[in-house]
Amino acid sequence: MKILITGGAGYVGSATLRHLVGAGHSVVAYDNLKEGHRGAVEGFCELVEADILDGDTLEKTLRDFRPDAVMHFAAATYVGESVEKPEYHYRNNIAGTQSVLDAMRACDVSRLVFSSTCATYGLATDEFLSEETPQVPASPYARTKLAVEWMIRDFSHAHGLGFTILRYFNASGASPDGQHGEDHRPETHLIPLVLQVALGQRKELAIFGTDYPTPDGTCIRDYVHTSDLASAHQLAVEATESGKGDVFNIGTGNGASVMEIIEACRAVSGNEIPTRIEPRRPGDPPRLVAVPKKLKETLGWDPQYASISDVVETAYRWHRDHPDGYPD
Ligand code: UD1
Repeated sequence: MKILITGGAGYVGSATLRHLVGAGHSVVAYDNLKEGHRGAVEGFCELVEADILDGDTLEKTLRDFRPDAVMHFAAATYVGESVEKPEYHYRNNIAGTQSVLDAMRACDVSRLVFSSTCATYGLATDEFLSEETPQVPASPYARTKLAVEWMIRDFSHAHGLGFTILRYFNASGASPDGQHGEDHRPETHLIPLVLQVALGQRKELAIFGTDYPTPDGTCIRDYVHTSDLASAHQLAVEATESGKGDVFNIGTGNGASVMEIIEACRAVSGNEIPTRIEPRRPGDPPRLVAVPKKLKETLGWDPQYASISDVVETAYRWHRDHPDGYPD
């Protein structure tokens, strides 16, 4: 297939892009490089450096490349930032997605895979979250993603768009060959921050809240390896048909608390990890763990990384060998 990937230079977009190229698909990355890295794409495919809000360039790219499908990763993703600057998240995520859908319609591209998030379940109280769990987003970021899910369904109903919505749990890890990993600037994600402390690149880790209603008082997340996210995307894009739509969780079904992540990083690195306790971070739900059954049963997804120590080990090697991330 020919696939255009918005946000193709980002963490999950570039992992997916590399996986798709390896599987024989032809891809073009579309990224404004505000948060993505040229080095994450270089040597794999063409990169169009432009913004999704630039409808003219988006349409020109679609007309030139004539893809069978679009994978739409490009988005503002920092939860804390979304509380401070909701306008930035609403513009990028909602207006940005409308721009993508408008360009697709104008160019007769009728298949979409969309990156949604477990954050749309937010404050849902189920211990394990299935696709049917009611969505109760707890942050502006999560509300933009939920709004876009509805936008996609409405476009499908009105215009025959075929779609697959993928609700990721926490993307994590690095490629086993050590060439691809997490590089956010500034870094706000737990595993990279803990590993940077373990490697002496940071002084200590701030634990955001120890008074959550969880066994050790810290938040629980379901950390899913980017290689497994990438393979789920391949299955999703190959299964997406014009006029039809579906939604899948991508998670492992195993939860790990902030304390358990710190312990896994200590064990992998062999180093102590100094911490300090801070108040809860606004917008953080206590527990988000997937039921990944539907993706496995419907699309035959076969994740390779089940244990948090395997995930952390790949991330540890990436951060040890690339203390400054990608060279750009
Ligand atoms: C969030 C979103 C997720 C989104 C991702 C991308 C939610 C529930 N999830 O993941 O959908 O795709 O951002 O940016 O909103 N923590 C600390 N100290 C730190 C950093 C984090 O204690 O220095 C804690 C957080 O409070 C949280 C956990 O670690 O409980 C994981 O945080 P993080 O890695 O930032 O991911 P999420 O916020 O869960």
